Amino acid sequence: MELPFAESWKIKMVEPIKKSTRQEREQWIKEAHYNVFQLRADQVYIDCITDSGTGAMSDRQWAAMMMGDESYAGARSFYRLKDTITRITGFEYVIPTHQGRAAENVLFSHLVKAGDYVPGNSHFDTTKGHIESRKATAVDCTIDEAHDTQLEIPFKGNVDPAKLEKVLAEHADKVPFIIVTITNNTAGGQPVSMENLRAVRAVADKYHKRVILDSARFAENAYFIKTREKGYADKSIKEIAREMFSLADGMTMSAKKDGLVNMGGFIATRHEDWYDGAKNYCIQFEGYLTYGGMNGRDMEALAVGLDENTEFDNLETRIKQVEYLAHRLDEFGIPYQRPVGGHAIFVDADRILTEVPKEEFPAQRLTVELYLEAGIRGCEIGYILADRDPVTHENRFGGLDLLRLCIPRRVYTNNHIDVIAVALKNVYDRRHEITHGVRITWEAPLMRHFTVQLELL
Ligand code: F0G
Repeated sequence: MELPFAESWKIKMVEPIKKSTRQEREQWIKEAHYNVFQLRADQVYIDCITDSGTGAMSDRQWAAMMMGDESYAGARSFYRLKDTITRITGFEYVIPTHQGRAAENVLFSHLVKAGDYVPGNSHFDTTKGHIESRKATAVDCTIDEAHDTQLEIPFKGNVDPAKLEKVLAEHADKVPFIIVTITNNTAGGQPVSMENLRAVRAVADKYHKRVILDSARFAENAYFIKTREKGYADKSIKEIAREMFSLADGMTMSAKKDGLVNMGGFIATRHEDWYDGAKNYCIQFEGYLTYGGMNGRDMEALAVGLDENTEFDNLETRIKQVEYLAHRLDEFGIPYQRPVGGHAIFVDADRILTEVPKEEFPAQRLTVELYLEAGIRGCEIGYILADRDPVTHENRFGGLDLLRLCIPRRVYTNNHIDVIAVALKNVYDRRHEITHGVRITWEAPLMRHFTVQLELL
């Protein structure tokens, strides 16, 4: 008999988690105004709100933390991190920042001006925020196939080169760079193929533009290239990563994901002029150039994390766990964005709570129901997150309405995954009894999903 698959690590330290009663959860979620961001983490049993900064570090990372050099300028830990980043990405210039959005803030302060257009594939919220707050426009050039949750194609995060070319043909002199997010979080943790990165490069070269990779989950993207794209099966993750970055000019990185640390980020580029332009913003916003918002010990842990997570075994363990959850949902017939992505399952709430009108935010209702069922916290990536149209002030119901269940790295076992799957099945089985959603009682003008207050209908 073939031996079953198992994790490429064993557990050395544990953190207790606690179950609660349905009655307690009813009280807590009411006090949280039916917004899971307002819950205390202690009121949650299994936390799938994000995979960002919620992973478990390895013994080697913890050991490296003891080697942190906390010198203000020129710390050994900075050079260790920089050398690791240069080895993995090929980018020579590195600016550390405290997290991914800070990297965006520093680099975009230099690059993005009012009236600019920044094309890309489903810019992440903070990326879009840093473009729009500078009165520029983020143009989404993701392939149309990404919007059909049931369509199975291997690289659903891809950029549509024709859409990209159109933006450049119309606004070439107002495009400071192209940004490709790997993996495409918003489209469901969907990967971008090497072939697509090459196509983007070709369009960029034609218009003499530079390309940035938003690389929060670049290692997961490399895993999908290895396992799904022709010609890459025999290449190592490190070789694939190097090739991906060879097609770009620079990167912004939220190290809280594929860097396997709880806090951290950086900018890396091959261009001295970008480095020189961004430098002063780093000092102004983040800190001196050799720490940029990070402790020496955190830079040490990140250097080790980047190396660990560009090894196949670690990634295989991770992605197989996300796939395991997908297989369980398949057993129960629960619809989600297919094929399953790298860091999360995006459950298609519109197809489950079919009796809840759009105006009552089905995915938010599903998020609340799953919490009530078993204390599992996912989050809505749907109509509430989409905010209102800045001109008409109407809710935007044009996109997808999803419940995102993120899987933190190296944190939960497949027993926890089983609990998530069965809890969701229980909600799914009584979906026809759920005929109403939620109503907004208070909302912020921007990024409302973090603080929105709701009532149950
Ligand atoms: N880019 C992508 C693709 C992201 O997913 C995130 C964060 C960022 C940039 C910003 O990085 O949080 O370190 O400032 N995503 C988290 C999430 C918050 O839950 O998907 P950050």
